[in-house]
Amino acid sequence: MAEPDEPRPAHNPRMHQGGKLSFRSRVQELEEDPGEFLVLGGKNPPALHELVPAGWDDIEIEIGPGKGAFVVAATEAKPDTFLLGIEAASGYAELAAVKLKQSGRDNGLFLVDNGKLYLQDRVDDSDLAAVHVYFPDPWPKRRHAGRRFFTDDVLPVLARAIRDHGFLYFASDNAAYAGQVARVMGSAVDFVRDVDEEARVLAAGPGHAFTPTNFERKYIEQGRVIRRYAFRRLPR
Ligand SMILES: C[S@@+](CC[C@H](N)C(=O)[O-])C[C@H]1O[C@@H](n2cnc3c(N)ncnc32)[C@H](O)[C@@H]1O
Repeated sequence: MAEPDEPRPAHNPRMHQGGKLSFRSRVQELEEDPGEFLVLGGKNPPALHELVPAGWDDIEIEIGPGKGAFVVAATEAKPDTFLLGIEAASGYAELAAVKLKQSGRDNGLFLVDNGKLYLQDRVDDSDLAAVHVYFPDPWPKRRHAGRRFFTDDVLPVLARAIRDHGFLYFASDNAAYAGQVARVMGSAVDFVRDVDEEARVLAAGPGHAFTPTNFERKYIEQGRVIRRYAFRRLPR
């Protein structure tokens, strides 16, 4: 996902290979140390209640924030909400953490981990006001389909972690993947698509949901159609 106009990460961002995440490299020294804005999950990442400072009632997670544009904008748009970006590629997480530090906000953090696993075993029931997933890797080859975020097993994970009336927000330029998400989420007994919420957050402006992200900007420039869905967690 290298973009020519973006600064390069301090070292090569490593993607997960063969279904496994790579945690081979520690964070190298950065010109601007992101300090407390970046946590390396490693083999035993801290639970959500250990990561997020006490006192935050509204916690939202973005899975795969890349270079962090949405998380940084959301910390500004929603100062009463704590934003955690969980990114598998440490190089991108480093860049995102530097941007967050530069923003001067203290209601956000980036964690290097596998976002789906983190939701599964480090987040308590109803901990989250929202989960954001924007332009997830589509893994178009059939043999790689199991690496997608939105496989059948994700529904109980989201239904447990998101609190009543909380939201799952999704955006993608990939029509096939968006169709899969609409089918999977649309068939869920715990969620309902909420078009009023989709309109509300888009009208509210950057950082509320869906926008801005680096991939969104690139795909808008290319004239691609972007599908954006909000699914509301029905009361338990
Ligand atoms: C196509 S990029 C989109 C980045 C960003 N959301 C945007 O819209 O600009 C997908 C991102 O998801 C990250 N990713 C892939 N699998 C992941 C996982 N299991 N957990 C967390 N992040 C993951 C990738 O490293 C990459 O940064």
